[in-house]
Amino acid sequence: MAKRNQWATGIGFILATAGSAIGLGNLWKFPYLMGKNGGFWFLIIYLVFILVLGLPVMVTEMSLGRYTQKSPVSAYRSVGKKATVIGVLGVLVAFLILSYYSVIGGWILKYIESYAVTFQAVDFGSYIASPVEPIVWHFVFMALACLLCYKGAKSIEKASKFLMPLLFIFIVIIAVRSVTLPGAWQGLEFMFAPSADSFSFGSITAALGQVFYSLSLAMGITVTYGSYLNKKNSIPKDCAVVAGLDTGAAVLAGIAIFPAVFAFGLEPAQGPSLIFGTLPKVFESFAGGSIFAIIFFILMLFAAVTSGIALLETVVSYTIDDLHWSRRKSILIVGLAVFLLGIPSSLSFGVLGDITILNYSIFDFMGMLTDNILLPVGGLLMCIYIGWFWQPGKLIAEMEAEGMKFRLKKAWLWCIRTVTPALILVVTILGFIDVYQKIAGV
Ligand code: TRP
Repeated sequence: MAKRNQWATGIGFILATAGSAIGLGNLWKFPYLMGKNGGFWFLIIYLVFILVLGLPVMVTEMSLGRYTQKSPVSAYRSVGKKATVIGVLGVLVAFLILSYYSVIGGWILKYIESYAVTFQAVDFGSYIASPVEPIVWHFVFMALACLLCYKGAKSIEKASKFLMPLLFIFIVIIAVRSVTLPGAWQGLEFMFAPSADSFSFGSITAALGQVFYSLSLAMGITVTYGSYLNKKNSIPKDCAVVAGLDTGAAVLAGIAIFPAVFAFGLEPAQGPSLIFGTLPKVFESFAGGSIFAIIFFILMLFAAVTSGIALLETVVSYTIDDLHWSRRKSILIVGLAVFLLGIPSSLSFGVLGDITILNYSIFDFMGMLTDNILLPVGGLLMCIYIGWFWQPGKLIAEMEAEGMKFRLKKAWLWCIRTVTPALILVVTILGFIDVYQKIAGV
């Protein structure tokens, strides 16, 4: 057997994994979820979930990848026939997420075009409600992702090393500008001072889903990356660094957004439009802001594209390995299917706005389905299968390969066997009750 590709350097691996994790989930979704779910308490619960759910699951996936040396579906298959379902579920979720991810990617493209041509942002509300243009940009985003995915991701890895740090620097600059706006302290208070406003069971479910989403878990991507990992790397340490970077990016995005939201008297709980409505105001508030805006949205596009390609690759590699399609055929078919599936999500901000599923708009329903149901269920099945029906000791041995020490192995085992599955179960059920009560109007 040919030697499997390996990451050239430990830091390259960490940056690549962080590149897949850091995307719209951090810059766009995290702030808007926090805004909708009461700020401070959402942040605290999110941080706790990163520790007791996100990290244990990430460590499990990564060590499973390195242990089996396989891509996700085959990795799970080799653990047990029944476990194949977990891999397939991940592929399905990647497919669903990408469909609306690309719609947001399209919005970013439009912003770049708009700033480049008119030096101004578009009117977000009326733009996303229009029936044709957002779909055209959604198409462009998907086409871009398909093209780059076809060419292979090598150059992206190189570009990530340069552009991701740049993105960090830009967010810090925006955050500094944002907290120095008059009235900004209210935004910081919203983030860091406890208040029970607009917090509910549903908020806890949202935080749980966001942990999976933001760390790119339960989708096989971490298994794949782990399979390329050198035995000399310490898996727990690398996972901790990636989770730290990812969480740092999300919290920084919050610090960039909320002070500005309050300074400009905007609505923190406005949902998906939050970042697109708020940041332009920050950019308008200083000289040369529109140049800055173009650069920022280009970096954001880059973060979105790198994650988009990873999502696409998850589905594409499955159809190549299991359905024996050629790469070209796979990318064309998957790309087209994702594009078509994204159309109703895009239209749900306008002409299809009246259609609701369980009280959610189509766009929100897709997010709810993937983040609040499918990802947690995938994580739950994985923990239970590995923890109880397989030998987690094999993964501990994998992490302790080459004389490495995994000090928290007892805690990890306890998490994936008991704490993590129990938490996922309870939170998901409570979330359902919450949704049910909203629908029934109790
Ligand atoms: N974590 C990415 C983000 O925050 C989104 C994402 C979820 C993802 N699952 C993934 C990206 C799998 C790549 C692969 O935006």
